[in-house]
Order: sequence, then C-alpha cells, then structure tokens
Amino acid sequence: MAITEKNTWNTSLYDKKHDFVFKYGEYLVQQLLTPQEGERILDIGCGTGYLTSLIAASGAMVTGMDSSIDMIAKARNEYPHLPFRLASVTDFDFNETFDALFSNAVLHWVTEKEQAIQCMYKNLRPGGRLVLEMGGKGNVQLIMRALNNALKAFGYPQNADREHEIWYYPSLSEYTGLLEKQGFRVTYAAHYNRETELKDAADGIRDWVQMFCGALLEGVDAEAKEKILENAQETLRLTQFRNQKWYADYKRLRVVAIKEN
Ligand code: BEZ
Repeated sequence: MAITEKNTWNTSLYDKKHDFVFKYGEYLVQQLLTPQEGERILDIGCGTGYLTSLIAASGAMVTGMDSSIDMIAKARNEYPHLPFRLASVTDFDFNETFDALFSNAVLHWVTEKEQAIQCMYKNLRPGGRLVLEMGGKGNVQLIMRALNNALKAFGYPQNADREHEIWYYPSLSEYTGLLEKQGFRVTYAAHYNRETELKDAADGIRDWVQMFCGALLEGVDAEAKEKILENAQETLRLTQFRNQKWYADYKRLRVVAIKEN
C-alpha cells in the first residue's frame, strides 16, 4: 500500500524541539546566500518562517513558500509583516522571477526532483542564484537501519525499507548533474557529515522518528509502536548517544548554482 502522506507537521513541536533544522540554516543565509538590500528572494520550504525573517532583516524583499498549510499559518502568525505563499516546489509560479532562491532542509522531501529543479529554474532570473542545503546520500542511514530492523523484528516487515518513498537523498554528482542538465552552472557543492544533536536528552531518537517519519509507522498498533521506537533507540545508544546527548547521523548536501544568462 502506498504511503498516504509523507508527513504531517506539528508546528509547535517543530519549533520547540526541532529548531536545529532552521538554526543550522543561519550559516547558509549569512555565509552563502548573503542577501542584499532590495533583492527579490524566495525561501522555498520556509516552514514556520524563521529563516525568511532572517533574510528579510538584510533588507531583501523575501517571500516564504511552503506546501504545508499548517506551516504557512504559523509563519503568517509569527511574522505578519512578511509575505508567505502556500505552494509546492514542484508547481509554483510568480509573476516576476527572483534574484535568488533559497532552500534549507526541504528538497530531500521532494521525490519529484526533476519537476522541482525545472520549476526553480523557471522562477529564477538569468544570472540569479540558487542556494540550497538538503539531506545527501547516506543521510540518517543508521537511524533507518535501526528502525527498519525493529519494524521487521516486531511484525511489520511491510513498513520496513520504505524511506525512499518519503525522502530523496542524492549523491553530490547526481544532484549537481540534474542541476546542470537543467541549465544551472554549479559554482559550489559539498557533501559532508553533520552529526546533529537532538534536543531531548532522554528520547531524542524516538522524538525524531515520530516528528519526521511517522509515515513509516502507518498502521502499526500503539503497543507495537512503543516497542519498535524503544528498540530502535536502544540499538542506536552505542553509537548515537554521547555525553548524555543524542545525535542523528545527518549527511548534508550543500549547493550554490547560477542560472546562466
Ligand atoms: C534532514 O534535514 O536531513 C532531515 C530532516 C527531517 C527528516 C529527514 C531528514
């Protein structure tokens, strides 16, 4: 059976316990995007709007875009002075093109990657830049191995090994190749390890799984779910719990690309 929805976002929990997602994006904004006053910038997958507001602080004219109605509602509520648009990266169109497109920790949710790249290209002005960071090849593979093994061990093999249905973690050459095929010139690309500290010292892995891949637990009864989450977390304790903190085995892909004139 197909997964019905990749994720449903709990926006308060996202802001409270998973704010590392956008906190890590600050570097990306300040060091790689370097927004300039008056530039038209689109923040693709803006979530609750934190990085959109950071971009706006530079004097750029930024719009936040997200395909989650809950995220957009929260962003509008938090930053009522900024424009936010409900739209998908695979199908969006603005009247004017942008000087820059920015995306942090979003594009790995987009399995229709060619469509997304085509749409981004169309909405960028010639000479404009695309600055992105997403999960890259091997992202969260230790967490997934532990979860998949637990699903199989506790009677849900049909739920296991399905992460490719919700996420796309390309290698550097694959993603930059797709960008080049579309007409982008890639000026910077890196694929790096970023062990990511999780907020909850007691249940970091359990929280992470429930926040980001609840879809993989669809149809699992409550009692089995408890056992699966506990088993997956305990399997990971040896490698992912250090100095009283949980770490997720993130591998990031960071890219800057220009739309050729
Ligand atoms: C990531 O940023 O790599 C990520 C976030 C949530 C789920 C999966 C991956």
